[in-house]
Amino acid sequence: MNANLDKKVLLESDNDILSLDTILKKNEEYKNNFRKNLLFELMRSGQLSSPEKKEKFLGYFQIWSTYFQRMMLLKTALCEDPVFTPLFYQHLDEEYGHDKILFQERETKNIYNDAILEAISNWFFSKMLSFSPYEQLVLVNLCLEVSSTIFHEYAILALDPDKKLSYFQLHEELDVNHGKIGLFLLENLTQSHYSRLLDIQNISWDMSEALMKRIAELTMKIG
Ligand SMILES: [Fe+2]
Repeated sequence: MNANLDKKVLLESDNDILSLDTILKKNEEYKNNFRKNLLFELMRSGQLSSPEKKEKFLGYFQIWSTYFQRMMLLKTALCEDPVFTPLFYQHLDEEYGHDKILFQERETKNIYNDAILEAISNWFFSKMLSFSPYEQLVLVNLCLEVSSTIFHEYAILALDPDKKLSYFQLHEELDVNHGKIGLFLLENLTQSHYSRLLDIQNISWDMSEALMKRIAELTMKIG
C-alpha cells in the first residue's frame, strides 16, 4: 500500500488512525442525526396516523421496499467472494419476499409512482454493480439496516401501535442483527481502505436521508 496515500488519510484534526471503531463512532452520529428526518417528525407528531395518510405512505414506501428486495437479489447473485457469500445468502434468506408481505398487508393496492423516489431507490440498487463487498456491507448493513431500526421505532408507534402488520414486526426483530452482519470483515483494513469506506458511509446516509424525506413529502402532498 502506498505509504504517502495512507499518511494523507490520517484525520488532520486529531491525527487519529482510522479503524472500524472510527466507522462505528461515525455511524452513531449519522444514526442520531437521522432521527431529525422530516418523515420521523411527521410520524412523531401523528400526522401520518390517519388511514388515508397511512395508505399513501405505505404505497410510496412499497416502491422502496421493492427496490430493496431487488438490491438484495442482485448483491447476492453477483457475490463470488467465499468470505462474503454465506453472509450475503443468509441475509437474503431473512429478507426474501418481504416486499410481497407489505403489498398483501396494505388495505388498498393502489400503485404509486414518483420519478425522484425511483431515482433515489435506484441509486442503492445500482451500487450493487459497482461497490466491492466491503463497500456493500457499509451501505446495506451499517447504513440501511441501522437506519431501518430507527424507521421501525417511529413507524410502529405512528402507523401500527397494535402491532398488526407482520412486515413491521419482522423488520423490528431482524434489523438489529442485520446491522451487525459482517462487521468482523471490516477490521484490520488499510488506512486508504478505511478512508474510502468513510466516504461510502457518508453518501449512503445522505441518500437514506433523501429517501425518507422524499417519501415524507409525497405522503403529505395534496392530491
Ligand atoms: Fe433487514
